[in-house]
Order: sequence, then structure tokens, then C-alpha cells
Amino acid sequence: MKSQLEQIKQTAINMLQEIQDATELDAWRVKYLGKKGELTALLKQMGKLSADERPVMGQLANEVRETLTNSMEEWKKSIEESMLNARLTHETVDVTIPGKKTAIGHQHPMYIVLDEIKGIFVGMGFESLDGPEIELAEYNFDRLNAEEGHPSRDWSDTFYFDQDSRVMLRSQTSPMQIRAMETRTLPIRIISPGRVYRKDEVDATHSPMFHQVEGLVVDKGITMADLKGTLNTVVEKLYGEGTKTRFRPHHFPFTEPSCEMDVQCHKCSGVGCPTCKYEGWIELLGAGMVHPKVLEGCGIDTNVYSGWAFGIGLERTAMRRFKIADLRLIFENDIRFLEQF
Ligand code: DAH
Repeated sequence: MKSQLEQIKQTAINMLQEIQDATELDAWRVKYLGKKGELTALLKQMGKLSADERPVMGQLANEVRETLTNSMEEWKKSIEESMLNARLTHETVDVTIPGKKTAIGHQHPMYIVLDEIKGIFVGMGFESLDGPEIELAEYNFDRLNAEEGHPSRDWSDTFYFDQDSRVMLRSQTSPMQIRAMETRTLPIRIISPGRVYRKDEVDATHSPMFHQVEGLVVDKGITMADLKGTLNTVVEKLYGEGTKTRFRPHHFPFTEPSCEMDVQCHKCSGVGCPTCKYEGWIELLGAGMVHPKVLEGCGIDTNVYSGWAFGIGLERTAMRRFKIADLRLIFENDIRFLEQF
């Protein structure tokens, strides 16, 4: 029996050296150390031995089991190690190979300008609101004091959804004044950027879809001085300190008085050149003191509160800021154009 034990040990150890992977190792374990394995089978015959021999053989059998178990663990470790090494060599990354360049996009020039405008106003305590592009004519016109018969309501100017001209693509961001006054508590300081739509033919300065930023302030004791002070500050932040502006009288149905704000031409400093069409000034935005009818229509007491508002075209502001000659470039999304900013 002793020699049988020795033989099992020897063969097992020899076989172990041949093993290459975990499946083979498991088969080996079952064959030699398993419940139905060779060692167990031999031990079952212990009953045949004499009482003297039994403990000696028992000890020897345990030693063989222990040796085989230890050898198996060692072998397992070395197989795992060599498999890991093989993987590491196989999967080596050659860090000297030049990498692939990932093209990262950047902001569209118009959104660069929008973020600048937002930053300036938010810094002055304004909040930025989004509004619906599909708007009720009631908000786009009536409640802004542009009642039936106003030329901007004409079918040839406006995109309506229905025969009775109730629902439309908003032609300006000014309806956000009404929506702000309806939903906010006083005082109000908001801007609202977004798309607007008009039946315009596409050319270098027109598009049937463009962007505006609306602004509205309603508080106690607001005067035209607040309008001028705030807008002058914005223009200086946008176009540089000392930028000259002028305010011209104008007409908008929802403001009284109304004005347009011009900036002095950056190219010729007011002398006159092709950029400013020899006027020395470039029109920037429309503004005015909110018409009392508009405030009252939103339930605001005009004996206590007053307000000012403005609307600025975003494409034209970006065109001026980046000296872009044609509005179409802003929407065509030609990479060669966009990459310049
Ligand atoms: N909504 C006007 C337009 O589309 C721009 C405008 C002018 C907005 C005066 C205003 C304002 O808020 O006070 O031409």
C-alpha cells in the first residue's frame, strides 16, 4: 500500500507538470484528490490493514494528500501568473504611436454673443426666461397695444396657423413682456432670448427666422434715465469702454416714449464709411418706456409702477461683433466659417 501511495504521488506530480490551464488542473484535482479519486479509493482499502499498519498508512496518506494539495496550489499560482504575463505582453500599448486627434467643437458665434449679453444682464440682477415660439396673436399683438389693423399683423408679414389669425409663429420676443408680467411678482428684471419669425425673403441682412433678446424692467420710480444708464452700460461691456451711443425718437406700439439706440460706427468713429452707410452711426436696438396700457393690461398700477423695455436682434449684434458681412453665414453652418471663432 505504501508503494501504491508513493506511486500515486509520483504520477500525480508528474502529470501536474504537463498541465497548461485551469480546466486541465481541475480534471487533475478530481482524478487524484476528488471524492472518487485515486487517493480516496486507496484509503477505502485501509480496513484490510492490520491495526499497527493503519495509523502509519493513515499518516502517510495524509502527507501525500497534503503534498498534492500544496503542489496543486503552487501550480495554479504559476499558471495564473504566466497567463497574466502572456496577456500583459499581448495587450501592450505602444505609447509612441501618434494619437488620433479628436475634433472638439465650440460655441456658435451667435451663442458666444448671446452668452455675453446674458452674462452682462445676469450680472445686473436680471433673470433669463425662455418663451414659446408658437404664440397667441393676443400676446404677440393685442396685449402689446398693436390692435387689429396694425400693419405688422398683416398676412403678408406674419406666419399664422389658422384662418382666424389666432395662433402664430411669434414675430418678436416682446410677448414675453406680457408673460413675465403675468407670472412674476414685482419688481421685474428679465431678459428673454429666442427665435422669431417674419415673412422676409432671405438676403444678406434678412431671414424669415432670426433671434431677438427682449428685456423688461418694472419697478417703482423707473424712468428713461434707467433705460439709458442700463443700455449704455451694456453697450460699453459689449463693445468696449467709451463706446458712444445716441438715442433717437421712434415709434413702437407698446412703448411711450419709444426710441432707437445707435452706436457710433467702430470703423470710422462717426465720420461716415461704407460699414455705417456713411451715417457715422449703426442702429442697435429698439427700446422705450412700457406703455401704461400694456402695464394696466397686466393688472399693474401705473400710479405706483413704471417700466422700460428693449429688443435687440441677435444675428446683427453678432455680425457687428465679429465683422460678419452676410447674415446667411450664421445659419449655413459651414465648418470653414464656424471654425474662425
Ligand atoms: N419688438 C421690437 C421689434 O421686433 C423691438 C422692441 C422695441 C422691443 C422696443 C422692445 C421695445 O421691448 O421696447 O422690432
